[in-house]
Amino acid sequence: MLQCLILELEMVFSWLNLLAKFGFSDVTGIDYSPSAIQLSGSIIEKEGLSNIKLKVEDFLNPSTKLSGFHICIDKGTFDAISLNPDNAIEKRKQYVESLSRVLKVKGFFLITSCNWTKEELLDEFSEGFELFEELPTPKFSFGGRSGNSVAALVFQKT
Ligand SMILES: C[S@@+](CC[C@H](N)C(=O)[O-])C[C@H]1O[C@@H](n2cnc3c(N)ncnc32)[C@H](O)[C@@H]1O
Repeated sequence: MLQCLILELEMVFSWLNLLAKFGFSDVTGIDYSPSAIQLSGSIIEKEGLSNIKLKVEDFLNPSTKLSGFHICIDKGTFDAISLNPDNAIEKRKQYVESLSRVLKVKGFFLITSCNWTKEELLDEFSEGFELFEELPTPKFSFGGRSGNSVAALVFQKT
C-alpha cells in the first residue's frame, strides 16, 4: 500500500486525483490546529472522500504512528515554522528530523515555498536528502534580473 503524508490540508483535494492515479490509497493529512482538521473533516465528509485520514499532529513532535510514508507534501508549513519568532533555527532543524523520521528510505518530499529560494532549500535539506527534481514555477523580472516568486522542489531521502 502506497502511503502519503500531506502537511497542507487546503490543497489535499487537488492532490487526490493525482495520487489516486499513481495508486496511493492511504493518504493522511495533518495539522497542529484542531480547527484546521475540523474544517478539512467537514469538507472530506461532504465530498465523500473516505480514504483520507486526518490527524491533529505537531510535525515538530510527531507521534510514533506517523511513519513509513512514501511521500510527504508540504506547501506553507515549513514556511510558517521558519517564520516562528521563537527559535526558528532550532525548529527548522526539528522539521528536518521529523521529515526523516516519517519518510521511508528513498521516500519523496515535495515542498512548495514562498519564503525560501531553491538554493536556500537545498541547504536546509542537505542532510539526509538529495534534490530529485525542480518543478516549474512562475518567473518574474525586475531591474534587469529574473527570478522565481515560489520554489517547488522534490527531494528524495537518501
Ligand atoms: C501557511 S499555512 C499553509 C496552508 C495551506 N497549505 C496553503 O497552502 O494555503 C501553514 C499551516 O501549517 C500549520 N502548521 C504550522 N506549524 C505546524 C506544526 N508544527 N505542525 C503541524 N502543522 C503546522 C498551520 O496550522 C497552518 O495550517
